[in-house]
Amino acid sequence: MSKPKVFVTRAIPEKGIEIIKDFCDVEVWQAELPPSRAELLRQVRGVDGLLSLLTDKIDSEVMDEAGPQLQVISNLAVGFDNIDVQAATARKIPVGNTPDVLTDATADFAFALMMAVARRIPEAEHYVREGRWKTWGPMTLLGVDLNGATLGLVGFGRIGKAMAHRASGFDMRVIYYDPNEQESDSTMKATKADFETLLRESDFISLHTPLTLDTRHLIGSSAFSKMKPSAVLVNTARGPIVDMAALYQALKVNRIFGAGLDVTDPEPLPMDSPLLTLDNIVIVPHIASASKATREKMSWMAAQNLIAGLKGEPLPNCVNPQAYSQK
Ligand code: DGY
Repeated sequence: MSKPKVFVTRAIPEKGIEIIKDFCDVEVWQAELPPSRAELLRQVRGVDGLLSLLTDKIDSEVMDEAGPQLQVISNLAVGFDNIDVQAATARKIPVGNTPDVLTDATADFAFALMMAVARRIPEAEHYVREGRWKTWGPMTLLGVDLNGATLGLVGFGRIGKAMAHRASGFDMRVIYYDPNEQESDSTMKATKADFETLLRESDFISLHTPLTLDTRHLIGSSAFSKMKPSAVLVNTARGPIVDMAALYQALKVNRIFGAGLDVTDPEPLPMDSPLLTLDNIVIVPHIASASKATREKMSWMAAQNLIAGLKGEPLPNCVNPQAYSQK
């Protein structure tokens, strides 16, 4: 019996590939950059399963080009805004993602970004490398404290809760805005707040919400106008949640203290982005989950979703269980 045909849109950690190879006839896109649209459409033709990354736009055109035998789409990410899930559901295709395994790595990284911006670490490092360190200075590179500050979490799912857990070690007060969470979480000493209160009271604002029509540009000029001038904004969620032009304005006139971005809009950030001219921002290339162990787990989990889909079994992590009721 022939093996199911699968396309993997980039080289991923071996752990997942090994599992896939055992069960499937697999083609892995080996280039550093993602396949172009034309390549993607060519490669998916006739596949039974697709393992995609957040850099691949998987819409109805891709699904139709693959053909009616396409049984599963497995995304190597917890976020799945790159996939038209409605289109997949309409075609009875389950879509998998990789939650949980990246929660700690992402929360660790969001904290690292908060600290880097608050204590101006990249700026200070450049200061040394540029030969500007002449003496110890009582006024040199002053930052803002985390200890005792208020952390405002936009989104209180797995990663938001992991942030609250870490914040308790810094004696931070934690408030969160999440329309989907009903109660304040007493076990974590985190208090539910409305969006306006969170903007006004937070010293640090960290974003942990998916990108949806409601959250696109949630942080724009109106939000910045309500923040404290000492506020630090951190985004490890999705770039378009922040209006980048409004962020530039807010940082340029020191409307807020600084920002740390793991994600931008667009990605990669163009080299002529005005944000790159500012000192009060730290920008890194979407690496919050990029620890070896985490990426291996993500690879393993994405492979498990893929194989389950190909066997006609429920995916261990499925974002559209409605796809099954369509069957
Ligand atoms: C995700 O999984 O959605 C992250 O953005 C990448 O790890």
